[in-house]
Amino acid sequence: MKKRHFDALKPICPRCSRTINADYPLVADRIEASTDDEIIEGSLVCSSAACRQEYPIIDGIPVLVPDVRSWVQGHQWDMMARRDLAMGSESLIGDCLDPGSPFNISRQHTSIYAADHYGGDTDRNGAKSVMALVDVGLGQLTGPSPPAPGPILDLGCSVGGTSLHLAKHAGGHPVLGVDLSWGMLRIGRDALTDGRITYSLREIGLVYRRITRSVDTTDAALVDFWIADALALPFQPETFSLVVAMNVLDCVASPIQALGAIDGVLTRDGHCILATPFDWSASATPIEGWIGGHSQRGPDGGAPEKRLQALLADGASPLPGLRLARQSVETRPWQVRLHDRCTMEYATDVYVLKRI
Ligand SMILES: C[S@@+](CC[C@H](N)C(=O)[O-])C[C@H]1O[C@@H](n2cnc3c(N)ncnc32)[C@H](O)[C@@H]1O
Repeated sequence: MKKRHFDALKPICPRCSRTINADYPLVADRIEASTDDEIIEGSLVCSSAACRQEYPIIDGIPVLVPDVRSWVQGHQWDMMARRDLAMGSESLIGDCLDPGSPFNISRQHTSIYAADHYGGDTDRNGAKSVMALVDVGLGQLTGPSPPAPGPILDLGCSVGGTSLHLAKHAGGHPVLGVDLSWGMLRIGRDALTDGRITYSLREIGLVYRRITRSVDTTDAALVDFWIADALALPFQPETFSLVVAMNVLDCVASPIQALGAIDGVLTRDGHCILATPFDWSASATPIEGWIGGHSQRGPDGGAPEKRLQALLADGASPLPGLRLARQSVETRPWQVRLHDRCTMEYATDVYVLKRI
């Protein structure tokens, strides 16, 4: 956890924020390994005497979720996973385990997002990568009155390539990538600390090949990665001038709550680049939480884009401050590489929102 990010972003206790709606700052508690710039191992603690919840920092990544115990229980496999296995050993273990095992699911997810964020020309189609979607949003932010510069939050950043990309446009301000996935955030952390990443790229089934890529770390000092929940962000109101939420709205349990959290952490006049293919699934979001994608008998025919625009319309919104900054929405292709023989292509909407 970079001290610069801690000082600038002043994280608060997500448990107190969620349970009693109070903003208690976190303070450094145990520091067991550190450098001049960051805490590598240790913990933060809630400054409320009634709470004193500990938040661990492990391998330089703080875990700032309301229920640390449940998060550790759910991610124990990823946190303890070996990262030094030879390809043959990894392959044998993968073959012995169920394709749906945490081991195989984790490397499948990492393969998808590492290829998209860092894959270069061979593993990803640049014009259809998430980076191209970010650029569409950034392009809409420029103009006669560009937004005031300030800290940037990359919500659901997965392996963190977008955070490094955003740092090029951050004007020296901190960029923070947050996600709930330890395995994916570790890739982003490797990019920061080693200037290169290694991941297993899926060829087919349980067959993978090892990929190592160097990463442009020119602006890496501006970037840090924290484990945090998009639905319970550990920040005081008005902390970020830009929130970027790429393809995450349809992955959370409550998309409206996620929009409310974005609304809460944005500064007045702050902006949000929101990209979503509205690929709803009941495993991520209960149907009642979907924005569109159901109840086609209604006046909007279940169209998600109409329902999202209605949610963000003046006066009609349960979101106090978020509005569409532009009425025109760009629909762009986003390619997700599943394995050598399968690439899915989404039609993803890129919205630019403004907090009034
Ligand atoms: C479809 S992926 C998109 C990743 C990346 N933004 C991109 O576009 O390439 C969704 C990401 O959101 C993360 N995620 C899901 N629920 C989350 C939550 N409640 N808080 C933070 N991140 C979450 C997942 O771990 C995953 O990395």
